[in-house]
Amino acid sequence: MNYQNSLLNKSSLNEAIARAFQQRRATTLALFEGIEETTFCRQVHPDFSPVGWHLGHIAYTESLWLLERSAGLRCLFPQYRKLFAADGLPKNERVQLPTLEEIRYYLSVVREEVLNYLEVADVEQEERLLRFLLQHESQHNEIITFILELLRTQESGVRNQESTDRSQELLFPNCPSEMIQIPAGEFEIGNNSIDALDNEQPVHRIYLEAYWIDRYPVTCGQYRAFIEAGGYQNSCWWLPSGWEWLQAESAVQPLYWCYDPAWHNHPVCGVSWYEAEAYSRFVGKRLPTEAEWEKAVSWDAKANRRRIYPWGDEKPTPRHCNFSIPHQDLASPQIGKTTAVDAYPAGQSAYGLYDALGNVWEWTASWFDRYSGFQSYPYVGYSQVYFDQQHRVLKGGSWATCPWSLRSSFRNWYHPTVRQLFAGFRCASNRSL
Ligand code: AVJ
Ligand code: FE
Repeated sequence: MNYQNSLLNKSSLNEAIARAFQQRRATTLALFEGIEETTFCRQVHPDFSPVGWHLGHIAYTESLWLLERSAGLRCLFPQYRKLFAADGLPKNERVQLPTLEEIRYYLSVVREEVLNYLEVADVEQEERLLRFLLQHESQHNEIITFILELLRTQESGVRNQESTDRSQELLFPNCPSEMIQIPAGEFEIGNNSIDALDNEQPVHRIYLEAYWIDRYPVTCGQYRAFIEAGGYQNSCWWLPSGWEWLQAESAVQPLYWCYDPAWHNHPVCGVSWYEAEAYSRFVGKRLPTEAEWEKAVSWDAKANRRRIYPWGDEKPTPRHCNFSIPHQDLASPQIGKTTAVDAYPAGQSAYGLYDALGNVWEWTASWFDRYSGFQSYPYVGYSQVYFDQQHRVLKGGSWATCPWSLRSSFRNWYHPTVRQLFAGFRCASNRSL
């Protein structure tokens, strides 16, 4: 992770990448420490595969793209091809899995070959693919994390118990629901760097009229007003499709709802796009478009340039935001849950937005779609098949997002019904409220 391609000669680049791969893997494997066999193979929700499948799929992807397609080796484990390919079996047929031990063996054999290959490969030639694979593993890491969280939530139900003691709330006054005006003008969206994924490219300029955007993500304290006003029982706040979803889901609060006074200023977490959209209407606002979000978070108007991160181009540190710190970094272990939305003043954007990266993903009003000039990489199934006007963009990453996927230009996408990931939102408006 601590490498800059331009500063290193070839062999140290090889070593740095090999180190980054090992560090990433240690973090992945740590998620499976002490896991029960039944948890490993269990499909917790119809939209998601068992965590054990994700682990095997990480090895499969590395093997396919690096060993077969790049190094030209034959498939090492043809018996796993159908099981672990993204387009192999339907999700509900991914429950007959090899054991954790067998999949760890699969991972280690593939990894050993990868490290052998990296010793002789032209790493510069392969750099984009290597960075893709690191991000691929990171993303599956986060998916594994929220599936395990979902399982805990279903098993204990603890999170659904509301604290009725409100006396302590005064200790945690509401963050102001302050908005920032973003002046009209052009800015640059996207990212052309070597670690940008296909859907972030190419960088292009967009003109936006002036708008207002929340300084902070919506907090539990603020969202509670919506729940208490009967927001989940009144169709007037919901889109027809959202209301339909709500009836089918029988939702009465966010999935990871925990009302504890100490969480008053934590962002709301575990909402579908429909819930985010309904709340925005309830407070007389709307969701920001992806372009509005990215301008407010990454544009430095004074310098007339885009920043990689809200605070600048310096890599994320625990001073900047709440994200998943690699396993070995024991000096600053990961937080592992949400934090107050005003906890990171050092992470502010040029326009003064707080908490844009890390903590919770933020839903936007935009469909996931191609930028003009888009080219698929490394395969059509990565982004292109999702340009279907069925997926909404999320920005910013969560407490479970690894540094490899943490940047202002990163685009995540899910169906508007999905509420299992660590997602919240902030609101926007055309006028001052
Ligand atoms: C970007 C999280 C929506 O889970 O489909 C993993 C990431 N793509 N393997 C997904 C992904 C291929 C992707 N999301
Ligand atoms: Fe994948």
